[in-house]
Amino acid sequence: MKIAMVGSGYVGLVSGACFADFGHEVVCIDKDQSKIDRLHDGIMPIYEPGLDALVAGNVEAGRLSFTTSLAEGIKGASAIFIAVGTPSRRGDGHADLTFVHQVAREIGQNLANDAVVVTKSTVPVGTGDEVERIIADSGTRHRVAVVSNPEFLREGAAIGDFKRPDRIVIGTEDTFGREVMSEVYRPLFLNESPILFTSRRTSELIKYAANAFLATKITFINEMADLCEKVGADVQDVARGIGMDGRIGPKFLHAGPGYGGSCFPKDTLALLKTAEDYDSPVRIVEAVVKVNDSRKRAMGRKVLDALGGMEAGRGKKVALLGLTFKPNTDDMRDSPAIAVAQMLTDAGVEVAAYDPEGMEQARPLMPGVAMTDNPYAAIEDADAVVIVTEWDAFRALDFERIKTLAKAPVLVDLRNIYQPEDMQTRGFKYISIGRS
Ligand code: UDX
Repeated sequence: MKIAMVGSGYVGLVSGACFADFGHEVVCIDKDQSKIDRLHDGIMPIYEPGLDALVAGNVEAGRLSFTTSLAEGIKGASAIFIAVGTPSRRGDGHADLTFVHQVAREIGQNLANDAVVVTKSTVPVGTGDEVERIIADSGTRHRVAVVSNPEFLREGAAIGDFKRPDRIVIGTEDTFGREVMSEVYRPLFLNESPILFTSRRTSELIKYAANAFLATKITFINEMADLCEKVGADVQDVARGIGMDGRIGPKFLHAGPGYGGSCFPKDTLALLKTAEDYDSPVRIVEAVVKVNDSRKRAMGRKVLDALGGMEAGRGKKVALLGLTFKPNTDDMRDSPAIAVAQMLTDAGVEVAAYDPEGMEQARPLMPGVAMTDNPYAAIEDADAVVIVTEWDAFRALDFERIKTLAKAPVLVDLRNIYQPEDMQTRGFKYISIGRS
């Protein structure tokens, strides 16, 4: 089957490469000529483990190709995926659907055969109806079914998530849509991946509900961590203790500096907007968004406290280890590191930072922060070392070396990757999350 993927960003490229790996013929389309040129040269626009090899293998096998021409790319495709960005609209948090609508219009104008048009981008409830209307208005003579098929990929684990999904959600009530989508995902049916066919609007809402629920789970354990610090309890044991209850589950209960990334912050805001539009408030999610925002600044204060407070911090130096919103990505979007660095530099603290993949993206977002070639260069003369992101590279730091390099043996571990007793034995003042 031929599949066209409109939008060769994170979601489009990973999905396209994986579909090609299943044996489909895939064309990835993007308006950005330089991105397509680089893809032709085997250069990935994002860092995602395993993606370059997957793309190279499928290009070589003749199943995956790239083009800037939508008309060319969709010719003969039975399924046309829309995987363009839906950023937060400036000012109000609504998902900006400009690109989705533009692509729908272009598909309608260029369609040369019957096809299923699939929204893979995260789009608010009702977007499928609009896409359908836009394509119909373009006057196409061909049969079109518009289907919703949200993605649930985690950055850094996207290929595994695509190939072994917890579930596939397909929103359509159209038999043609159902037939084509069954064929698209047939290789995964054989793996017995659960598949949920539902209405289009339900499918659109499932994506937002899933992300809002996960953001809520994280925020819940983060607030429990604050309480643990006050009452002298251990949040990791609280997470274990509640996670063993099958109704709660152990995942996404890792307390930290607050969630970031390209999905949770944007999708929770968009859900609030939808709830407001339909006059059906989701107050829990409102609270989650507020708590998470203030948490990132609270992490900056935590570091200042470790330096002896706002006044004492002025002129001191902090080393930030890890800048991306989570490990195994170069994505800096809404990373807690940005707020932490901002608070510190505002308070007159000198900041040096190291991240294995994210420094290029971080640089423009962190004016005044010195980027270094390795963690130890950042640590030199530091009054405190702060682990912001739990990259593997920071899981076995050389603490003897840190003690000789740093001005003071102070470690603020915002991801709880070390054990308090262990750090005490090593002679460190150790501050972590939700553990006294
Ligand atoms: C998320 C969803 O998991 C995915 O299904 C959706 O399609 C896109 O959004 P992603 O943004 O890649 O994926 O990252 P994820 O691993 O979910 O982490 C999101 C944020 O939550 C990160 O900042 C992470 O550090 C934080 N987090 C996650 C925690 O603080 N604690 C946890 O227990 C889990």
